[in-house]
Parts: sequence; structure tokens; C-alpha cells
Amino acid sequence: MYIVFEGIDGAGKSTQIQMLSDWLEANGFRVETLVEPTDSEVGKLIRKILQRPDATTQRIQKTLGLLFAADRMLIMDKLEDESKIIISDRSFISSLAYQEPAEWIEVLNKYAKKPDLLILLDLDVKKSVARTSGEDTFENEEFLTGVKRNYLKLAENFTCEIIDANNGVNKVSSDIKKAVAPYLGICPDCIP
Ligand code: TYD
Repeated sequence: MYIVFEGIDGAGKSTQIQMLSDWLEANGFRVETLVEPTDSEVGKLIRKILQRPDATTQRIQKTLGLLFAADRMLIMDKLEDESKIIISDRSFISSLAYQEPAEWIEVLNKYAKKPDLLILLDLDVKKSVARTSGEDTFENEEFLTGVKRNYLKLAENFTCEIIDANNGVNKVSSDIKKAVAPYLGICPDCIP
């Protein structure tokens, strides 16, 4: 099973993935976690470009779209391992939410794997901005308002569970477990 976590910056994806992964392992599942952008050379270049003041312009967004797609290609084979639950921190759905134009991004990600389950951590934009460093040019209220809107629209195209990420860490974690349990045949009442 391939589970993807998405959400605007600061939504708590990495913390929640760790908590879900620990819980699934405690329930006897084998889990592998992935992160995009990766720590490859392409991923490092992406992180540098994200700090450019012009990162939201169409020219740089197109360049980023290409780089994110190339970076994603480097971990494509890992998604084929059916002996494990693969949980990914972001995917091509981030490119659809953050980059434009949409037709360009769709073509670049034609071969990207669709998740079996998308967990969308839905956070207020003001909270996102307060939680992030502002080091990356994407971490601003206006841009993230558009990204959040894109995510809610994109969610309709996937098997998706939308989780309110404005709550405390433990509440969000238990909401995620309850949402994931039926997909894995775990009894929801058995969740602590
Ligand atoms: P993020 O998960 O926030 O990494 P970090 O915890 O290191 O800040 O990802 C970095 C940024 O990249 C984030 O603003 C989302 C953006 N992004 C895209 O714009 N398109 C993509 O395809 C991906 C994977 C990420």
C-alpha cells in the first residue's frame, strides 16, 4: 500500500508520519518512509532554489516542476516494493498544488504513481506561516492560500482522507489512525 501525506508547509507531515509508522510497526506491519524532495543532488539543488526571492515566478516554477519530477524519478523503484507499506512525505500531488501551469505539471508527472490513500493535513494558512521559518519563498500567506485551495480541489481526484491539522499533535495522530485503519483491516475500536 502506498500512502501519501500532503499539506501546506508546517502542517505536521513529518511528525505525523513518524507516529503513524511507529504505530503500524507495533501492529506488525513493515513500513518504509520516503520524503520529497529527496536528499539527492537534485533535491539539494531544489532546496537552494526554494530560497530565491523569485521562486514563485512562472519561469522558476517551471524549472522547479522539472526538478521535482526528476528528483521523484530517483525514488520511483522504491514504490514497487509490495512487501511493505510505503508512506511518503509529499508526492507529485505537491507539484500539482504548488507549481503551475497545471497542464505542464501533469505532463511532467504522467508516469508518477498515484497513491492508494492520500492523507491531506488541512491547516489554517495563518498557523502555517507562524510555524515556518519564512526562509523559503513559498512560506508566505498569499502563496499558501492558493496552495491550500488547490489541495482541497485536488483531493476530489484521489482516495483521500482530509484531517484537521489545527488540533494538537495527539488528536491529529489519533484522527489519522482512525482514518487509515479501515484501509488496512485494523479494527478502529482497537485504536488507543
Ligand atoms: P518541505 O516538505 O516543506 O520540506 P522541508 O521540511 O525541508 O521544508 O518541502 C519543501 C518545499 O517544497 C515545500 O514548500 C513544498 C515544496 N514542494 C513543491 O513545491 N513541489 C513539489 O513537488 C514538492 C515535492 C515540494
